[in-house]
Formats: sequence, structure tokens, C-alpha cells
Amino acid sequence: MTKISPSILSSDFGKLRDEVALIDRAGADSVHIDVMDGHFVPNITFGPVVISSVRAATKLPFETHLMVDNPDRLISDFADAGSDLLIVHPEAKHDLKKTLTSIEGLGKKTGIALNPETPLEAILKTIDRADMLLVMTVHPGFGGQKFITEMLGKIRQARSYIDREGIRARILVDGGVTLETGRLSVDAGAHGLVAGTSVFRSPDVAGAIRKFSLL
Ligand code: DX5
Ligand code: ZN
Repeated sequence: MTKISPSILSSDFGKLRDEVALIDRAGADSVHIDVMDGHFVPNITFGPVVISSVRAATKLPFETHLMVDNPDRLISDFADAGSDLLIVHPEAKHDLKKTLTSIEGLGKKTGIALNPETPLEAILKTIDRADMLLVMTVHPGFGGQKFITEMLGKIRQARSYIDREGIRARILVDGGVTLETGRLSVDAGAHGLVAGTSVFRSPDVAGAIRKFSLL
């Protein structure tokens, strides 16, 4: 089964608790929470208070994608708010290894996200510390963008590396994921998919989640 982690960025924030409960009932594996600070990416989304406000709506793991300049300053607040896994970017202003160690120290799982322009080689020394590798298939900052098909090569490269080296990280793909690009991503080696628009803007959210999980 392919893991599906809907991104709440594309959900209706006027009824966020209901939206999270809906994807839970529909069989989502986790909730993808896109945190943006207006510096690392041009957009601003939300802080820990929003996470704590929906934490009681589901027992699903919260996978918090920190698109922020200084993740090491923020990880404990997002951990305390209810995140189960914290995803950080090597492109941000921090020492990636130190931040991953701090996340582990908080008792949370770790994720590394790679922007499209960042090669896999940039994190080969740290990937053994991660539970998740998030391959960005759009330039981060907004939902509803087009999938960058050149990233399929990076997914293939990452999957053969972790299989060969026996690395525990699971590969998830994030950005412009539809049933079609999701299929391509799974065929290239992705273990899971993050989908915002194609889940929350679908007329049948539950049906969309079911179809993704069968890819
Ligand atoms: C983009 C975010 C993605 C995005 C996915 O910066 O990291 O998680 O919200 O949304 P869609 O599926 O609409 O591209
Ligand atoms: Zn994301």
C-alpha cells in the first residue's frame, strides 16, 4: 500500500478540525502540515497554535514540514504542539545534523526535505539519521503547482541508494501529486505521497485518498 499524507495547506481553514477528521475517516496514513515563514519561502502559513488546535481531531501522525529559515529555533514549539515527525531542509540556515539530533532529543521522528535544485548528494552524509526523505517535486511555497517530472530521476536515485545501503528512511514525494504523477512517483520508488490540491479540492476526498493508497 502506498502511504498517503494529505497536505492541509489546500484544506478549508474555516473548518480545519472537520477536514482533519475527514481525511482520518477516509483512511489517510498521516497529516502533512506545511509551515512557511515568509523568508525561506515567500508565503506565510501558520504556527504551532494551529497544530495544537487540531491535535485532538485525530490520532494520525502529524508530519510537520518546516519551510523556515531557522528550524532549530522552532522545533521544540512544533514538537510541543503535537508534531510526530519534523521535516527540515538542508537549504535552511542551520546545521542539519545538529537539528536532526535535537529533533531526536525531543523524542520525535526526523525528515529531510530536498528542494528540486538540491542534489541527493547534498545529504548522503545525514540521510542515515532520517526516518523520511521528502523529495520536493515543486519549488516550495504554494499548493496547486505543476509536478516537476525531472524529479523522477532523483526519486529513482534515492530509492536505489537507500535499498543498497539498507537505510531506514522512507521516500515521500511532495508537490503537484495527482493520481498520474503519483503513479509515476511510486513506479520510480516512492514509498508515499503528499497531496494537497488533489485530495482536498477533489469532489470526493475519501475516494481520492482510497485511489492514492492503491497506487
Ligand atoms: C509546497 C508544500 C506541499 C504542497 C502540496 O511548498 O510543501 O506540501 O502543499 O500541495 P499540492 O499537492 O497542491 O501541490
Ligand atoms: Zn510540504
